[in-house]
Amino acid sequence: AISRVWARQILDSRGNPTVEADVVLADGSTGRAAVPSGASTGANEAVELRDGDRARFHGKGVSRAVAAVNGEIADAVLGLDAEDQALIDETMIALDGSKDKGRLGANAILAVSLATAKAAALAHRQPLYRYVGGVGARLLPVPMMNIINGGAHADNPLDFQEFMIAPVGAQTFAEAVRMGTEVFHTLKASLAAAGHNTNVGDEGGFAPNVTDADEALRFVLRAIEDTGYQPGVDMLICLDPASSEFFHAGVYDYVGEGRQRTVDEHIDYLLDLVSRYPISSIEDPMAEDDIAGWKRLTAVAGERVQLVGDDVFCTDVDRLRDGIDGGYANAILVKVNQIGTLTETLATVDAAHKAGYRVVMSHRSGETEDTTIADLAVAVGCGQIKTGSLSRSDRTAKYNQLIRIEEELGERGSYAGGR
Ligand code: PGA
Ligand code: ZN
Repeated sequence: AISRVWARQILDSRGNPTVEADVVLADGSTGRAAVPSGASTGANEAVELRDGDRARFHGKGVSRAVAAVNGEIADAVLGLDAEDQALIDETMIALDGSKDKGRLGANAILAVSLATAKAAALAHRQPLYRYVGGVGARLLPVPMMNIINGGAHADNPLDFQEFMIAPVGAQTFAEAVRMGTEVFHTLKASLAAAGHNTNVGDEGGFAPNVTDADEALRFVLRAIEDTGYQPGVDMLICLDPASSEFFHAGVYDYVGEGRQRTVDEHIDYLLDLVSRYPISSIEDPMAEDDIAGWKRLTAVAGERVQLVGDDVFCTDVDRLRDGIDGGYANAILVKVNQIGTLTETLATVDAAHKAGYRVVMSHRSGETEDTTIADLAVAVGCGQIKTGSLSRSDRTAKYNQLIRIEEELGERGSYAGGR
């Protein structure tokens, strides 16, 4: 049973406060979890509670969410069985009482939800991925490594937010990390040689002063080739334009490029990129409120490209159902803090898998040293994770945890590449 719940305010990778909670069980097992935070958030995400007091942390303090954990939430979950994750999560959801978890804060609720699972795993003397996923949790995900950052994650004029590489040709996860890292360093050298700065953005990818996606993709493609890998075989390219960020009044407004595209022109542009580069996956190709565009793109490209709904689904099983029923997207990005509890996250993953939608476990642009999502990716066996570039400890912490999990699984583990 849960004997102590305690939260504190710590810092995330962007220097903003976030919630970290400890959950202690009667046998002394202690789980700890810290909550991430997005920058290009979907409009329908669970609400992270921030203080709004401009005199402290520029309004971004989370002392109210911390107080919610140490007060109301602790009172409600103390004495409950930590193994009954659904009960803990449902208790917090009911206690909050709002539709978007905004009263107590999704940041408060998620910290306790994840810390509870970690404490229960310890009490069972099991690693988190096995406690959550069972003995069948053995699949190491293909990482989507975000080596060029733009959009809301960098101060460059790139309209698209993320340019990622997926080392599908690797035999193991550790090898995938090595391959990605090699390309990352090749890219750094070629950007420098071209006169670009090699500073990194929020997710650890380079943020060169290039304007259009085509130019960024040329750099990525050349870096793959120059490292000695075969694009389309050893390594695939994945995009997250984060299109909700630049869709205004019915048009896609490419501010960096200095031009606008209609919905059809935007779709044609994406299809053109897919035809010229080995792009296997596009996340948020269309804006969250451009459902007609989503349907059109899925109809023409859904058979050959993974179309991942991030903002449009917000890890919400009901929104996902709209996509399944409405025939848009064929995959979902799963971010634990978009929905706010582990139980709901697992339900969304389940619904996606049942409908034949692929699942990508994901970090946020604001992260901490917490590596829970690495374990969750293995637990649910989704086969894909996106957790940033090959620099910055907030990103590499997840890759490092997956390296450890792969080592622990040994011969029983398998890498999801080569599909
Ligand atoms: P965010 O970005 O965490 O800033 O929302 C990640 C994404 O769009 O996938
Ligand atoms: Zn996204």
